[in-house]
Amino acid sequence: MTTTVSLAGSTGSIGTQSLEVIAAEPDRFEVVALGASGRNLDQLVAQAEAVRPRVVAVADEAAAAEVADRLPQVEVRAGTAGLASLGAEADVCVNGVVGFAGLEVTLATLLAGKRLALANKESLIAGGPVVQRARRTPGAELVPVDSEHGAIHQCLRSRDESGPARVHRLVLTASGGPFRGRSKDDLASVGIDDALAHPTWSMGPKITIDSSTLMNKGLEVIEAHELFGAPAGDAGVGIGYDQIEVVVHPQSIVHSMVSYTDGSTIAQLSNPTMKLPIGYALAWPDRLGTAFGAIDWTELARLDFEAPDLDAFPCLALAYQAGRAGGLAPAWLNAANEEAVAAFLDGAIRWVDIAAICAAVLDRRDDAVATTFDDVVEADRRARAAARSVMADQHVTRTPTA
Ligand SMILES: NC(=O)c1ccc[n+]([C@@H]2O[C@H](COP(=O)([O-])OP(=O)(O)OC[C@H]3O[C@@H](n4cnc5c(N)ncnc54)[C@H](OP(=O)(O)O)[C@@H]3O)[C@@H](O)[C@H]2O)c1
Repeated sequence: MTTTVSLAGSTGSIGTQSLEVIAAEPDRFEVVALGASGRNLDQLVAQAEAVRPRVVAVADEAAAAEVADRLPQVEVRAGTAGLASLGAEADVCVNGVVGFAGLEVTLATLLAGKRLALANKESLIAGGPVVQRARRTPGAELVPVDSEHGAIHQCLRSRDESGPARVHRLVLTASGGPFRGRSKDDLASVGIDDALAHPTWSMGPKITIDSSTLMNKGLEVIEAHELFGAPAGDAGVGIGYDQIEVVVHPQSIVHSMVSYTDGSTIAQLSNPTMKLPIGYALAWPDRLGTAFGAIDWTELARLDFEAPDLDAFPCLALAYQAGRAGGLAPAWLNAANEEAVAAFLDGAIRWVDIAAICAAVLDRRDDAVATTFDDVVEADRRARAAARSVMADQHVTRTPTA
């Protein structure tokens, strides 16, 4: 039977790789809807001409009108609501939108009782309490696309789901990014091109900068807690932040691990490619027939592991701090980070300022609680305003601690 797929963020790194995975198994998957912001119109139109979806959604209204002119045979939907509507269009929606803008796609897919193949970690991190409620919609399921969480999802398959989880720890691996091994002082003068030169992964600019600061790993710690932290028997394995460990593994071959109470550790390994976790989420609970990232064991020389340097990369400790605080703290951290990364990519702040801005914004957080989507949007708005105010004041010199 064919699985229908909608792709939100089809023009990005995750979106284009999703199309390549689907093209490898054309009898199995059918793309019925595509969507993006509208900044890369020619690419979006070319994708639609190639895969012939029923629906194309464009978040920017003016760009949507142009797409409608260029694709008269397709139903074009405009605005953020148009993009979110992709969630109900297919059996699976891949959310490959970058940043907080992906929250509506995440919620719409889950609330429609569909499978969400989630790359857009920011929506789960910022919208945690609201997304968790949406996950309980009958039929809804969330299969992570992030390679680490896809790995943990696979490692957890070895447990007996009818009994206690017996999980001791989740171990997230981190490549260490382009600045692994550099000291705090040494990092004071790194530039945009240095930070964009990731050693093992080719990704969009925002996540690449997040990887250089280890904020990406910090966000993934919160993501792991949201995905797997619920009590055993309630879609989780009942783990707290103390049971989520980060280890630096520069080869990016071990994508993450689960250790059990009897001392066993189960790991998932492949060469670094996002096509494997994308395909895993598309095919779940089955597997693809196409091997992406298969390892040639005669070529694999070594696997190294080391502790992360929290002094040089304070964003990791900040994420644990926000995760443990819970509620809307992750939303504040995520918004501050998005603002700071955008400013860094614009050349307005230094790389080291990203962590300092996030720390200062977390300090300004209020204690509002999130019961609705609007609460999350308001927290995001306030945190962004705080980040812009911190940057305007140039008070970005405080160094966060674990
Ligand atoms: N890339 C990876 O290997 C990787 C790995 C793990 C997780 N992820 C996660 O996957 C997500 C996507 O990352 P990426 O690297 O694929 O990003 P990317 O290459 O920058 O692509 C982002 C996509 O989102 C769309 N988009 C951007 N802003 C939008 C908005 N305001 N409204 C609607 N659509 C918008 C873009 O459309 P336009 O082209 O029209 O602007 C594009 O299709 C992120 O959450 C990231 O953390 C990525």
